[in-house]
Amino acid sequence: MTLATGVSPDTRDAVLHRQNARESAARTYARSFPIVPVRADGMTVEGADGRRYLDCLSGAGTLALGHNHPVVLDAVRRTLDSGAPLHVLDLATREKDDFTDALFASLPPAFADHAKVHFCGPAGTDAVEAALKLTQTATGRRGVLAFTGAYHGMTAGALAATGSVAVKQPLPSAGEVTRLPYPYAYRCPFGVGGDRGAELSAAYVERLLDDPSGGVLPPAAMILEAVQGEGGVIPAPDAWLRAMRRITAERGIPLIVDEVQTGAGRTGTMWAVEHSGIVPDVIVASKAIGGSLPLAVVLYHEDYDGWRPGAHTGTFRGNTLAMAAGAATLRHVADAGLAARAALVGARMTARLDALRGALPVIGDVRGRGLMIGVELVDPAAAPDAGGAHPADPALAARVREGCLARGLIVELGGRHDAVLRLLPPLTITDEQAETVLDRVTDAIAEAAAATPEGGRP
Ligand SMILES: Cc1ncc(COP(=O)(O)O)c(C=O)c1O
Repeated sequence: MTLATGVSPDTRDAVLHRQNARESAARTYARSFPIVPVRADGMTVEGADGRRYLDCLSGAGTLALGHNHPVVLDAVRRTLDSGAPLHVLDLATREKDDFTDALFASLPPAFADHAKVHFCGPAGTDAVEAALKLTQTATGRRGVLAFTGAYHGMTAGALAATGSVAVKQPLPSAGEVTRLPYPYAYRCPFGVGGDRGAELSAAYVERLLDDPSGGVLPPAAMILEAVQGEGGVIPAPDAWLRAMRRITAERGIPLIVDEVQTGAGRTGTMWAVEHSGIVPDVIVASKAIGGSLPLAVVLYHEDYDGWRPGAHTGTFRGNTLAMAAGAATLRHVADAGLAARAALVGARMTARLDALRGALPVIGDVRGRGLMIGVELVDPAAAPDAGGAHPADPALAARVREGCLARGLIVELGGRHDAVLRLLPPLTITDEQAETVLDRVTDAIAEAAAATPEGGRP
């Protein structure tokens, strides 16, 4: 039988089989989602088996406008038809000039007014490396302050700043990193939670840096996410971010905000730093700014622009199509008010998920900002910690992800023990799609909870 897509089930199975056989053991999403996408439009992905899925993963937060948005396709087609070179190393092009205009126009003016941009190898992790090298060069220092739960990428320096022990364990550490406690109200590193936990985190950071016997040499930078994504969708309180800005500014420590996942409207403002109003020294951006194509930049205060020509070079730093798609995306997010829309829909979705907690006690916590939403799944039958949080239930979370997929919904896990269901729909999600996503998530959680020994009841 040949399906509407023109791909037979045999072909689909053969593709999956060959990929599994030939691709590395480190493959990731392909393990959770045995789908062979053949077509995609907006929030919908069609697999080679003819099944349609609502995509709540969006390329790990990359697809601000969903798949193949007309604005993006038009920009790509126009650029192709223009005969512009597709690869130019880092030469000046009209596309780069236009992208830089769109990018600077999207930034908070207090930052943009003094900003320089460096185009990096086209992955978030390379832009993180660039940010670390930039601040190390500017300060002449080596050490980096980074947080528990952080995710900054997989190359050596970014990995050193990342929190996950599992991905670091077999490897030599590539840098001097001082690990600091990120405010995580539900599983508070100080055991108190709420605003008090964030206050203690700030007090701890400040005292540690000022302690002559604290063991921390003056660092090159502090790097943080305003909302931790891979770490389990943990938004930092605005007051805490302002405290980090004050503490770093008072001590001459450059503050790097990693907006790889939060940028371009995802959290309900164009850039996540806008919620707190802080002006960082460095912003790292990738994912959505390329409009589905690979692009990554580091943006920084002009005072830091002291590195030598070629200090962070690379072959793929001038992808013409990504710049055209990215400029179109950034402008569309702004013109269509998609950040505000993300705030509105995100708040509605979060509230509806939160309201399920009474009926479904496997939902330990619901949190997020804009359309970065996390549902932490726990074992309510197991004893809670001092703060009232039950242990994470990764097996249940995996069943929920599977149940979502069976219902035609792509949603990934993250966070400690991979027990946080992460909803990252495109900013273009309609009200109807949002309701469908919530219905499917609710059913999948209820089904998975009912299959646990005590039905998820404490
Ligand atoms: C906050 C953050 N920083 C850096 C990265 C690394 O980006 P990439 O996967 O493009 O290297 C990610 C990826 O998920 C991220 O979420």
